[in-house]
Amino acid sequence: MTDPRTPEAGARPAAVLKGLGTYLPPRAVSNEELSQRLDTSDEWIRTRTGIRQRYWVEPGTATGDLAVEAGARALKSAGVDGVDAVVLATTTPDHPCPATAPWVAARLGLGHVPAYDVAAVCAGFVYALANAAGLILTGVARRVLVIGAETYSGILDPTDRNTAVIFGDGAGAVVLEAGRADEPGALLGFDLGSDGEQHDLITIPGGGSRQRAGGNPFDSEDCYFTMQGKRVFAQAVTRMGDSSGALLERLGWPSATVDRLVGHQANVRILHAVADHLEIARERAVVNLDRVGNTSAASIPLALADAAAAGDLNPGERVLLTAFGGGLAWGSTALVWPDIAPN
Ligand code: ACO
Repeated sequence: MTDPRTPEAGARPAAVLKGLGTYLPPRAVSNEELSQRLDTSDEWIRTRTGIRQRYWVEPGTATGDLAVEAGARALKSAGVDGVDAVVLATTTPDHPCPATAPWVAARLGLGHVPAYDVAAVCAGFVYALANAAGLILTGVARRVLVIGAETYSGILDPTDRNTAVIFGDGAGAVVLEAGRADEPGALLGFDLGSDGEQHDLITIPGGGSRQRAGGNPFDSEDCYFTMQGKRVFAQAVTRMGDSSGALLERLGWPSATVDRLVGHQANVRILHAVADHLEIARERAVVNLDRVGNTSAASIPLALADAAAAGDLNPGERVLLTAFGGGLAWGSTALVWPDIAPN
């Protein structure tokens, strides 16, 4: 029997990328601005992470608001006004309950379609793509809107220099449609994984059932995002490198044939280390974290859109997407870039 994860036959059904839209909130926050209230510097942030600025929402703006903007732009980019399902990846939902996706779908005028959230932190967008591809390949949906949207600015401890300088807000979305594996834009396979033994490396400790189960009183400080940066760094390199390598092997793509490596935008040193691990030239690694910071589940579509706008992503090029985040969770997928107009 043929391994369903390998693209043996061109006529194999596939989920195909048809449109791409992004949205960033208007307020850019520079390293200098953060240095005025934290014990940090533009020089430290730039040299240790590659980040120069990030965008943060103003009070009153939530994740769903960014998701609606990016979703509308993706629909326009695909030239469609309806989909059969909405999958939204986020770590920062509008509410713990219900999911953010149904209200986003309603605000986009998409009717009573299935709509739900996926929680895989910074790997969320790749997980959501796999999920949407599953809906398409099982015939549940012909067309799916996949959104990654975050407002990390609301969960950062403003006094914690380890995290406050790293994360940004934003949203990106794609439209996936039923098609064939030999079409440009077809998602050709997935490699996904998790390691729950290391769940505490990236966590928001409070606000969930674990805290209540422990009988601990609610403390708003427990609801801040925490990360053990050094250990996460090492895991990010290993997991994205190994996951990408496994996928490339399954696809029969030698790493030298990958035109663009679009990795989760956490740290430029991580992106370069993953490229080195895969023996892909560093220049082929797309970098836009200097402009937007780490936007978690929105990171991959924002990087794709920036690369396309800069002329660094062209139709016919082989693109490898890989992401890693809390869970731990990681995932990779690959496609030949289609002729689309990002919006
Ligand atoms: N400004 C100045 N100094 C700082 C800052 C800052 N903003 N942050 C940390 N430091 C200090 C530390 O306190 C430490 O000082 P010490 O040696 O006196 O203790 C020193 O700099 C070195 O700290 P490290 O944590 O070892 O710094 P590192 O070089 O590892 O960089 C960073 C930290 C940027 C967080 C890095 O570890 C990293 O990028 N980690 C991975 C992040 C990632 O991949 N995230 C993806 C998943 S995120 C998600 O899923 C939501």
